[in-house]
Formats: sequence, structure tokens, C-alpha cells
Amino acid sequence: GILCSDFPEQLIAVRKDAPLLIGYGADGNYIASDVTALLAHTRTVTYMEDDEVAVVTADHVQILGRDGCFLEKEKHQIQWDVSAAEKGGYAHFMLKEIHEQPDALKNTILPRLSKGQPDLADDGIPDSILKDCRRIHVIACGTAMHAGMVARALIEPGIRIPVTVSIASEFRYETPLIDEKTLVIVISQSGETIDTLAAMRLAQSYYAPVLAIVNVKGSTIARESNYVLYTHAGPEIAVASTKAYSVQLAALYLIYCRMALVRGVYSPVQAENFMKELLDAIPAMETMISRKDEVKNIVNHIISKSDAFFIGRGLDYAFSLEGALKLKEISYIHAEAYAAGELKHGTIALISEQVPVIAIATQEHIFAKTISNVREVKARGAFVILLVKESAVIEDDIADVQIRIPDIADSFTVFPIAAILQLIAYYA
Ligand code: BG6
Repeated sequence: GILCSDFPEQLIAVRKDAPLLIGYGADGNYIASDVTALLAHTRTVTYMEDDEVAVVTADHVQILGRDGCFLEKEKHQIQWDVSAAEKGGYAHFMLKEIHEQPDALKNTILPRLSKGQPDLADDGIPDSILKDCRRIHVIACGTAMHAGMVARALIEPGIRIPVTVSIASEFRYETPLIDEKTLVIVISQSGETIDTLAAMRLAQSYYAPVLAIVNVKGSTIARESNYVLYTHAGPEIAVASTKAYSVQLAALYLIYCRMALVRGVYSPVQAENFMKELLDAIPAMETMISRKDEVKNIVNHIISKSDAFFIGRGLDYAFSLEGALKLKEISYIHAEAYAAGELKHGTIALISEQVPVIAIATQEHIFAKTISNVREVKARGAFVILLVKESAVIEDDIADVQIRIPDIADSFTVFPIAAILQLIAYYA
């Protein structure tokens, strides 16, 4: 945005690489990089493209292309309301957004069910891209990338096609092995993360079809991708992603189930059962959010320490990555996620008296293996917080604290577990 004292009534705005919106208000016009900044003033916006220039006055907006010609640009109405961008009685946006997850999940999943089965036709996602791809490449940053790690652990064994997950800031500088038979799934809450955008453009230059999972309507990634599956989480204000992670997972579970259906991996009845189990995870998550005081009480064992470890295997390892990121990002306590079986190859030396270890063991086929790793860290004096299912059978003294989640199918435990991990980070 450029102001000049010779033209005090006029604001010039130019977009290059970073997002820019024009907001049309009753009391004046606005520029912003994010729609949430405008919600209190207006919900009518225009998305600017790279190299476009806006000349903004209190009652008039003119937009010019790079060649100086005037452009007629579309005005969009934002559906989010102002209260979605207010704390609504919660101490912080993060806590509010943790609580919003069950509703956000319903908003993302329910409109895509037809006779109980996932249907992405209304989103304009053709079955052919799910049926014909030979491999999947997921690209994202941070929490969104961790959602991709969960999807890999679900899709690869389920569909039996290779799934690669890339950090967007790495992928964008690589010479990737992708082609038109690779389905590239790009995940971004904001739809504006520059590394993810650059990675997507690179993937498109290899003719790979790009399916974007995005929360913010009209964002650059949503506009430039070939297909979009919107998550309906409402605005996420807290920097640490919580509800966006859950709905990104929900979108990935929908894609997985639709893919299994159109490839004949699932019968319609199996697809329906999968979706029922996904919906069962929502009350399970709600239960863990309502038990937040249980989590609050244990963080004292973490906040006095300089390091914390998160361990798990398979899907539980994918959840651990997100747990460690959340704790680091929000509390500034150093945290590491380890595939539980990998600990002994060096890192176990860092586990000493009272070092907090958050162990996740919700996957039945590897449960005993993770528990044996819990014994190893306990033997070295770690303070173990163990997250298991309600019905898990273990000795009482295996861990210092046990948090038990409702008994739901193994593939869906991420939802209640995510709530616990987010609350640990928040209270720490
Ligand atoms: C980081 C945030 O800056 O960006 C993370 O701290 C987030 O929480 C990541 O996951 C990616 O953002 P987005 O908008 O592309 O999902």
C-alpha cells in the first residue's frame, strides 16, 4: 500500500506474490492481506492478482492491469460473520478454535454425504482423478503437512498406491518425479502460503492434476489449483492451527473413502461404515475437549522441563509429529517426535529422570510394540503420559499418567488424540 502526501485522499495498492484484497465498506474502502482483517468492516471483497494495481479512495476503487488498462473485477461476498473472528468469551482464539472443532468437522463432512457415502461431485471433483492416478503426492507446510502424514498412513495401505508427503519449501526447489498420473494434493488453511503455492505451480508444470484442500475461499491456491475441496472451518485466527488440522483430516478421509469406493476397494456398504466411523470420532473428540481440566492438571510436569518427547508408531507417529509442533510453537518448550522404535538408535540417551514423554498407543496391531518402548523410557526415569483407548489393557504403573480416549476404530483416533495434544500445548 502506498500513500503520497500530495494525494492524501488516495491509496495505491499493488499485489506481488503476497495476498491482497480490496474491501468495499459503507464507510470507506479497505486493503488487507487476509479476509479476517476486514470482517468487522465489510464482507464484500475483490481478490487481486499479481501485478494488478488498485487506486482506492473512500468512495471509489479502480483496478488496473499491468498494462495500465482498467479491469472489471468480480466482487465476492464472504459468508463468515464477524462473531467468527471474535473470541466469544474464550481466553484466547486457540482455545475457542479447539472447541469449534466438532462443529467444523460436521460442516466439512455432512454436506458431502449422499446415502451415507462420500460424494465429491458438488465440489466439482471428478471420480476419474481418484480412479486413474497411479500415485499420490501430498504437499504442504507445518500442521497441514502433518495432516498429509496421517493421510499417507491411511491411503497407502488402504488403496495400495504409493503416497509421498513433501514439505512444500523443499519440494519447490526439487526436480520431482511426478507426471499427469500423479494426483497432487496440496493442503493449506490460508491458501496463501507462498512455499505451498510455489510447489503447486511446479507440480502443475509437470502436468500433474492438483486437488487443493483449502479453508479460505477465493485464496490464491484455491483459484489456481485444478480442483478444490473446501474445509468449512470458518476463520482460523490463532497462528497455531487446530481446527484447520481436523478439517483437513476430514477432507483427506473423504477423499480416501471416495477413492476406495470408485476403485472398488470398498463396497458401498463398506464406504458407509467408514463414514459412520468417521462421524463417531466427532463425539469422541468432543469428550476429550470437555475433559480439558484433566489435561490442564498434567502440564505442570511439562512446563518445568526444557524438553519433551512424543512417541508413537504408524498413525500414532503421525499424530506425535503434530503434538510436538504444537507444543514447540505455543510454549517454546523444545519438543521432538520420534517413531517409538527409532528411539533406541541414539536418542534414548536423552531420556533421563523426569523428562516428559508423551506416548501415543492407539493402534492395535502395534500396541504391544509401543508399550515396550514405553517400558524402555520408563526404565530410564522418564515421566510418561500415555494416551490409550479406554479398553486398553495395561498395568497401572506402566506410565505416570494415563489419558484414555473413547473406544473408536483405530483409523479415527487422531481426532480425540489431536484434542489432547492441542490442549497440552495450549495449557503449557
Ligand atoms: C505456519 C503455521 O506458519 O503455517 C502453521 O504456524 C500452519 O500452523 C502453516 O500449519 C501452514 O499454513 P497454511 O495456511 O498453508 O495451512
